[in-house]
Amino acid sequence: MHRLSPAALGALLRVPRGRAPFSSSSSSSSSSSAPPQPAIAAKEPFPVELKAGKTYAWCSCGHSKRQPFCDGSHKKAAPGMSSLRFTPQEDGPAWLCGCKRTQNPPYCDGTHNGEEVQGAPLPPQP
Ligand code: FES
Repeated sequence: MHRLSPAALGALLRVPRGRAPFSSSSSSSSSSSAPPQPAIAAKEPFPVELKAGKTYAWCSCGHSKRQPFCDGSHKKAAPGMSSLRFTPQEDGPAWLCGCKRTQNPPYCDGTHNGEEVQGAPLPPQP
């Protein structure tokens, strides 16, 4: 279900909460304190081509230099955060969240269109 027509993609980017079939798990341990706020890596989603059955690690902290995927930067830049591992069930294109504010991780749900993301400064690029 990652194959989207341009119209469906447009709807997805505007709809606040979408659903996509995949299995996921986080390697982080649970804590009773509030989770740290991720950095905004980009103000739009990243288009990617996913392979069914392959496990990916989506960057949830926003500090990876391999966006939208994890490069281990969270260990120093965002202790307490970890990547989100997920395994798509179908081959195909997908839009992975770059703002790290989606309510449907790792997929974009349109949250990036809000003022919190669009009005925020981006971290300096190397
Ligand atoms: S990039 Fe769209 S919700 Fe994060």
